[in-house]
Amino acid sequence: MYAVEVEKLTKIYGRGDTAVRAIVDATLRVKPGELVAILGPSGSGKTTLLTAIGLINEPTHGKVLIDGETVADEGWRPGLDLKKIRREKLGFIFQAHNLIPFLTALENVMIALEINGVPERAASERATALLGALNLGHRLRNYPSALSGGERQRVAIARALANRPKVILADEPTAALDTDNGRNVMALLKKLAVENHSAILVVTHDRRMVEGFDRIFEVHDGRIAAG
Ligand SMILES: Nc1ncnc2c1ncn2[C@@H]1O[C@H](COP(=O)(O)OP(=O)(O)O)[C@@H](O)[C@H]1O
Ligand SMILES: [Mg+2]
Repeated sequence: MYAVEVEKLTKIYGRGDTAVRAIVDATLRVKPGELVAILGPSGSGKTTLLTAIGLINEPTHGKVLIDGETVADEGWRPGLDLKKIRREKLGFIFQAHNLIPFLTALENVMIALEINGVPERAASERATALLGALNLGHRLRNYPSALSGGERQRVAIARALANRPKVILADEPTAALDTDNGRNVMALLKKLAVENHSAILVVTHDRRMVEGFDRIFEVHDGRIAAG
């Protein structure tokens, strides 16, 4: 079984003369435990593809299956609770600076668990353990403004992992980091894919960041090719 299946996905923004075909006929499949890169220049359609898989950007045509369940087939499947699937099966990591500024590192991770109904005490324990595993045990009470870029990104990773999602989606997760911190974040994602058996899809325009990935898909002008 695949964690993610995308079949002939097309996304068209707008209509008529101003329509933009951002993704055209994209097909890809990712297994649990695979670390996959989606590589391509700016404007090629990477974010569109990732947000369609992440249930936040409705595909115009084609299918998306998450963990074997059809979520889109010529548009969202009617009657699905997209928010629930997003919360329970998906974890998102974006560029740095997407933490909640008035919550500490610990609280930023706890909130993801509490939204899913985990009681405060259990949420605190799990968030503490996760942050510890990401070498942030000494930063639990710090606010994002007091953390380095690499530390913030690791808090964001902890938050994305909190609910043990089947699928982790990362959009340019190293864009705000220097090369060393970027490599560390990518190495961490690799380790997590293996240990947690999660499918991890990482969007990047930086070819240097995808060493050690299981597979690379290249996107050009909305069209995808296995690299
Ligand atoms: N909400 C939108 N409305 C109209 N066009 C959009 C929208 N979002 C993205 N686009 C266009 O779709 C194309 C792909 O964008 P995007 O998926 O953001 O590419 P990337 O992430 O690779 O930079 C671009 O031409 C972009 O201008
Ligand atoms: Mg983008």
